[in-house]
Amino acid sequence: MNVRLPWVVAGAFVLAVILSVLIFGGKNTATEDIRAAYLPGGEFTLSHGGERFDMRGLRGAPYILYFGFTHCPDVCPLGLATIRDALQQDEALSDVKALFVSVDPERDTAERVASYAAFFHPNILGKTGTKEEITKLAKAYGTYFMAGAKDANGGYSVDHTAYYYLLDRDGELVRVLDHNVTALTIAEELQKLL
Ligand code: NI
Repeated sequence: MNVRLPWVVAGAFVLAVILSVLIFGGKNTATEDIRAAYLPGGEFTLSHGGERFDMRGLRGAPYILYFGFTHCPDVCPLGLATIRDALQQDEALSDVKALFVSVDPERDTAERVASYAAFFHPNILGKTGTKEEITKLAKAYGTYFMAGAKDANGGYSVDHTAYYYLLDRDGELVRVLDHNVTALTIAEELQKLL
């Protein structure tokens, strides 16, 4: 029997561990979520209607970031209801917050977006900012939005991508969840970040 073989195997294992730490150590979830690893993410400041909001204020607990607008007929109400259900899955998530950022600052005043989001759940904070701020934030998270043409009454829709972005307690983007995931899946992912 070759007595050296176990040592070669053990050595290869240690080397593999060191290499994976070196490669993935910067973002510990890179292996789990390639989109979260690829997107820049980051924390931004939003100002709207004399109000100033700094995302860094949410540090200390994981949170969900979600983009939309209050006139959205279907996607956003469904998304916010799913977030509400996720936060209600477990007592441990009772302090977790969600940030609903409106991509329609023309119609969504700070008050309007705040009360709209809170209608779904008190932990969902509705915010918006200047067009420039929102564009920068959305780009960092890989969210697209584009306002459509106005109808005769001045009404319009806003096309937008819909993802649930999960940020950890340090404000680092760690998961990008598709819109069709269940509230339970979101809750389970949040629990891992507590
Ligand atoms: Ni929407």
